[in-house]
Amino acid sequence: MNVKKKDFLDLAGWSTAELNQVLSLATVLKCEPEPRQARLAGKSLAMIFEKASTRTRVSFEVGMFQLGGQAIFLSRHDTQLGRGEPIEDTARVLSRYVDGIMIRTFAQDDIIALARHATVPVINGLTDLVHPSQVLSDIFTIRERFGDIRGVKVAYVGDGNNMANSWINAARRFGFDLRLACPEGYHPDAGILARAREEAAGNIMVVDDPRQAVEGAQVVNTDVWASMGQEEEAAQRRRIFAPYQVNDELLAMAAPEVVVLHCLPAHRGEEITAPVFSRFQELIFTQAENRMHVQKALLALLLGGKK
Ligand code: CP
Ligand code: NVA
Repeated sequence: MNVKKKDFLDLAGWSTAELNQVLSLATVLKCEPEPRQARLAGKSLAMIFEKASTRTRVSFEVGMFQLGGQAIFLSRHDTQLGRGEPIEDTARVLSRYVDGIMIRTFAQDDIIALARHATVPVINGLTDLVHPSQVLSDIFTIRERFGDIRGVKVAYVGDGNNMANSWINAARRFGFDLRLACPEGYHPDAGILARAREEAAGNIMVVDDPRQAVEGAQVVNTDVWASMGQEEEAAQRRRIFAPYQVNDELLAMAAPEVVVLHCLPAHRGEEITAPVFSRFQELIFTQAENRMHVQKALLALLLGGKK
């Protein structure tokens, strides 16, 4: 059994050098004409999903397969977690069978508890607080487009949710300019923002006005207005977030070379208009593809199979 292990719970828990190591390996893996099966031969990843997923599930599962290992999909409903078995016991048991655990769940505290009691690496596949594997892939996508992320002006428009929080952690580690526009009452996590500002003084701003955030931006991000678990608030959120739609009028404020990213799923006509989505869809689907390359690198490094 693995006694010394590293978890990937949020971007802030890793150094810039470590994150760059993942991105460098992802570049190598993306260019490999044939996946090198040997990297994780014989290794297994348990994937616990307490929320829905298309991209995260498939990209981790195919990624493990391409690396020569296997992934086991565990939904809340089909496991004893759904019948009240403690996450701590789940961590201890799964650690006896598998080489890593990926989890998508609600509370960040649950993932912390899982990691504390697991003896194998734990990877965050989204919580209410952060979505680090997504934003690390988004950094990879920006680097493919612009070369260096440092000095790039990035805007985030919409809900101060798990994506917004992870963008803040990314700005803390990668040193780009980040301006977030979020309505009052829907700001990002105050603790994440405060800790990021201590380290990355001056380059992270939260504003009310989306035009102020997008002015001169080279990358504009948005995300759904109602995240998983907030379905009952959807109608109210549609009213509150209406001025935060990424549309042509807003993008007219951005730099001429601006690109729009979206982690998906997208709600055309809500956080992004259909014409804007169409214009940037090639890049947005490459962004989705990059999840797999970056996560393969993460898996290869964490599960110890890097060769
Ligand atoms: N972006 C993302 O995490 O997509 P899924 O919810 O489909 O996994
Ligand atoms: N903020 C969204 C991201 C989905 C990938 C959610 O949590 O539902």
